[in-house]
Amino acid sequence: MEKKKQNIILIGFMGSGKTSVGRRLSERLHYQFADTDQWLEEKAGYSIPHIFSEKGEEYFRDLETDVLLDMQSSLHWSVISTGGGLPVRKRNRELLREMGHVIYLKASKDTLVKRLSGDTTRPLLQGDDPIGRVEKLLHAREPIYEEAAHEIIVTDHRSIDEIAEIIGTMVFREE
Ligand code: S3P
Repeated sequence: MEKKKQNIILIGFMGSGKTSVGRRLSERLHYQFADTDQWLEEKAGYSIPHIFSEKGEEYFRDLETDVLLDMQSSLHWSVISTGGGLPVRKRNRELLREMGHVIYLKASKDTLVKRLSGDTTRPLLQGDDPIGRVEKLLHAREPIYEEAAHEIIVTDHRSIDEIAEIIGTMVFREE
């Protein structure tokens, strides 16, 4: 990996395992771990559902860009997991690729629907027809994740440990 790209950044749909894999990977590599959703909630002083309901999605998306700019100036040798919609903005995709090596954790629609069924924490999946929402969003976002990523890892039928190991090996292979 190029020197400039020491951060490892995980992108992918809600429920693709970015946070769990990111934590595990950071332990394996002895890297710092950071999560854009958590950083955003700390910066805003409110939970994500609260921000969506009080200020709307656009405001939340602006905060995501602010968080990336904070992270760009303060994180090195870190594993960063990102909110599922963060790469949708072109500016964010550019920032991600400047900040590090971007890995898309890809999961099939069936896996995601299974993992996300009954979710009450993600504003975009509440209301009628959550499965239809997953399908529609996934269809729109898959090409975006693929464009943003340096690498794609298929996560279906793989454990968190296995995925962290694959990424760890890949990172050392490329150094
Ligand atoms: C979102 C994904 C969530 C969170 C917010 C919006 C999205 O993060 O950022 O609810 O647009 O896909 P996770 O991918 O960590 O669930």
